[in-house]
Amino acid sequence: MRDVRFQIQPGGCLTGRLRVPGDKSISHRSIMLGALAAGTTRVTGFLEGEDSLATLAAFRALGVTIEGPEAGRVTVHGVGLHGLRAAPEPLYLGNSGTSMRLMTGLLAGQAFTSVLAGDASLSGRPMRRVVDPLLGMGARIEATPEGTAPLTIHGGCALRGIDYAMPVASAQVKSSLLLAGLYASGTTCVSEPAPTRDHTERMLAGMAYPVRREGARACLEGGHGLRAIDIDVPADISSAAFFLVGASIAPGSDLLLEHVGLNPTRTGVIEILRRMGASIEVINERDVGGEPVAELRVRAARLQGIDIPETLVPLAIDEFPAIFVAAACANGRTVLTGAGELRVKESDRIQVMADGLHALGVQAQPTPDGMIIEGGRVGGGSVDSRGDHRIAMAFAMAALRAQGMIEISDCANVGTSFPDFVGQAGRAGLSITRRD
Ligand code: S3P
Repeated sequence: MRDVRFQIQPGGCLTGRLRVPGDKSISHRSIMLGALAAGTTRVTGFLEGEDSLATLAAFRALGVTIEGPEAGRVTVHGVGLHGLRAAPEPLYLGNSGTSMRLMTGLLAGQAFTSVLAGDASLSGRPMRRVVDPLLGMGARIEATPEGTAPLTIHGGCALRGIDYAMPVASAQVKSSLLLAGLYASGTTCVSEPAPTRDHTERMLAGMAYPVRREGARACLEGGHGLRAIDIDVPADISSAAFFLVGASIAPGSDLLLEHVGLNPTRTGVIEILRRMGASIEVINERDVGGEPVAELRVRAARLQGIDIPETLVPLAIDEFPAIFVAAACANGRTVLTGAGELRVKESDRIQVMADGLHALGVQAQPTPDGMIIEGGRVGGGSVDSRGDHRIAMAFAMAALRAQGMIEISDCANVGTSFPDFVGQAGRAGLSITRRD
């Protein structure tokens, strides 16, 4: 794969206003549920990143007519719950874990067989967490002996509802089982050990599919139908997080982030940064199609190291690369525990972040389920992002406080979630250049 590198000159600050790209989780679900609905779903603010485009291409291959994307507009001509058709070839999902895990559940209920494949990173990620409970529902799925992709999902299985207690807090597992549950006889209930993002439940309800929330359980019955709706995808708080951190650590910063999704299952990063002393103001909070949205004004602040409460971990699960950079720039020690899931993301985010922080002279001690970071001085140096989009963007922000230039390698996958990161970060004040 081509090596894309970022070079960032040290110093500067972030000012002005910007709207980061659309929410990745909601963009995936807009295609999947739009495809299963009766009628035409019109999406605006769709993330034109490689991950959500992989989902879009997969549903085209499954026989769904989809127009766009054009400037974030996508039109999905729904085929109904039983209108998908066998894809002529294996569906290639690139780097996208959300596409693979959610589609495994959805495809387990079809009359035809599908094969799902991904890139080297995705082919190393654990899939038994969805495959095993789906087998319990009566699905027939084959994985590698290691429990990884490629996955063959056999069609024509009669699925039964399940009452499943997830061992890990995973929105992907919950969503996968709920999507299978649309095709199952009886009731499918998924309970979570801690709250995880609930975009699937919200969008199903928005499309008039009855979903019940009973404490920590989400339940639905198979056999109802989905009604097409218009979906306005908010800006992704996970992409905004790099700017929340960058503006917090860089003296002189004052940045307005527009139309950011503030679903309470996603706002852990704001809570953690505020506990560290960040100045983040929520302006004009409103409801957009069943999801809370607001502007965020973030100004530079003196950050303090903290012990991150474990209850906030699932609510900030994708933001730890950025939060580690904030911790490296804070006074004192930051301790993260209860975050072993970070080891099975697009990379082992505990090890790869620790290696990168060490390369910049930061004291960081990885632990099996977290990290201990001594904040203070950040030096310049070379960091390997290991093809992990969020790690590349997090270290780019570290340059705002670094003593020397930071060079980051293996950055091509930034395109999976934030295609114009270099342009938007540059306009906000980061001295970043991209070298192919
Ligand atoms: C996602 C759920 C999370 C998150 C991922 C997107 C989703 O994964 O890390 O980026 O859209 O459902 P897990 O369910 O594995 O925690």
